[in-house]
Amino acid sequence: MTRTVYVNGDYLPETEAKISIFDRGFLMADGVYEVTSVLDGKLIDFGGHAKRLERSLTELDMASPVTMDELLEIHRELVRANGIVEGLVYLQITRGAPGDRDFVFPDPATTPSTIVLFTQNKPGLADSPQSKVGMKVIGIDDIRWGRRDIKTVQLLYPSMGKMMAKKAGVDDAWLIEDGFVTEGTSNNAYIVKGNRIITRNLGNDILHGITRAAVLRFAREAQMEIEERAFTIDEAKKADEAFITSASAFVMPVVEIDGVAVGAGTPGAVTRRLREIYLDESRRAAV
Ligand code: PDD
Repeated sequence: MTRTVYVNGDYLPETEAKISIFDRGFLMADGVYEVTSVLDGKLIDFGGHAKRLERSLTELDMASPVTMDELLEIHRELVRANGIVEGLVYLQITRGAPGDRDFVFPDPATTPSTIVLFTQNKPGLADSPQSKVGMKVIGIDDIRWGRRDIKTVQLLYPSMGKMMAKKAGVDDAWLIEDGFVTEGTSNNAYIVKGNRIITRNLGNDILHGITRAAVLRFAREAQMEIEERAFTIDEAKKADEAFITSASAFVMPVVEIDGVAVGAGTPGAVTRRLREIYLDESRRAAV
């Protein structure tokens, strides 16, 4: 099926959508993105994603070609036009196409930002088989740049990390810096000890996950204990449970790290409860 996508003000069939070869997103990875999930045909935590997008743009001194209200309407129109019940909306804004290659940023008055959105249809996203059995991860070196709090489209190393995981016969990789886990290749990382949920504190070294913020809020409301601090991969291997969060995986159990079973080697009770609370609460607040 040909999707309807959005490019710089127009809704088009995906086969007719075009971007300049001089676009700085293409030449320099000079762009930011967001991924918002769709459940029951509605957007999950759109407000959180819009806020982080504005922050990413501000940090890179990049102009937004649309207001956040317009952005919500574009998201809704694409969900409607493509009949998405469960899936994702991908959004990317780049510093535009100055008509040549130059390291220096172009003048935003003459080079408007590029904006692209498309949907991904994922029936069964909320009821994914992996959430029942959990995922296996390996630890790999975190060699990414120092501003991981900005959601840029520089995703080469995370892609390489996923390939290292695939080669090792597992599902994903956790990134390790100075002995401590930073996050997953495309998700935030957590361990559980007793009833305490432990996840790395916010800083420039991880992405400030929108799912992370919601899960921690729901966990606090449910009187669960939370500790925001760095943990080592060895501590994770000895934990009772482990899991990851992201807009596309929600709360997903991790049952094996570097070949070592975490806890009983099956999705734990705290993780299962958090996934349930997250899905219930997010669905209720979806727009
Ligand atoms: N990834 N950390 C990294 C490095 C990520 O790429 C992501 C999201 C997260 C989780 O953030 P959120 O809860 O806001 O989705 C953490 C998206 C889903 C992606 O690249 O597809």
